[in-house]
Amino acid sequence: TTRKRWVIGNWKMNPNLAAAKNLTQALITELSTTPIQQCQLAIAPTHLHLITISSLIQHANIPSKIQLVAQDVATQRHTGAFTGDISADLLIDAGTEWVIVGHSERRTLHHEDEALIELKLRAALDAGLGVIWCVGETLSERESGQATAIVTAQVTAHTQLLSIIDPQKFILAYEPVWAIGTGRTASPEDAQQMHATIRQVLSHIRPALNETSLLYGGSVKSDNAGLLAQCPDIDGALVGGAALDADSFLQIAKAFD
Ligand code: G3H
Repeated sequence: TTRKRWVIGNWKMNPNLAAAKNLTQALITELSTTPIQQCQLAIAPTHLHLITISSLIQHANIPSKIQLVAQDVATQRHTGAFTGDISADLLIDAGTEWVIVGHSERRTLHHEDEALIELKLRAALDAGLGVIWCVGETLSERESGQATAIVTAQVTAHTQLLSIIDPQKFILAYEPVWAIGTGRTASPEDAQQMHATIRQVLSHIRPALNETSLLYGGSVKSDNAGLLAQCPDIDGALVGGAALDADSFLQIAKAFD
């Protein structure tokens, strides 16, 4: 396959500034001696730390670059009276290349629905940011046999956008909600099956989307990454908890390298 492999660390609302700098520095130090070859690494610190982390990365002398991801973006494209919001342009100005949209924590805790997700996707893409677009079913949806239908609906809600999206600026992450932060990961078989379904749905919308990198997320750790990485339709991982430790994050990256 020509599909790009990615391991992306979503730091969520975790490290403070000192810890975020230490974590970044630890990644840089390890990568300067043991580079990751094929797998692209990226990290998503809180908005507050993007500029600082960006400059640490820019000044690092490492063969494999770490890309910078934001955890959220405003729906508004233009400057103006939007108290507390951070636009895609401001994120780019801070050194960001990607943004996570549709994460289950935003869907649940901030009531983000498909209409709002669409606005954020469009705002990000219009400005030139890439999107790491998350989908996934809840436990009750899985237990009632609706997982495939729910995930398919989350993707096809945006068919129009998918038919014009720049494939280079689009990564899709499948994160079953019941596996996020629970220590309970989807079996490689279940994850592979859903990834194959998503790939089929995307290819059906547009053949060019067959090359989309599909990441799995939900309690990925260094000890389960190897089996996930062997699945033909799993092109990487979106990592939460295990991304807060440089060693475990890089071990996951090595599994996908
Ligand atoms: O964005 C990352 C996911 O929500 C996974 O988090 O690895 O802590 O389960 P987790």
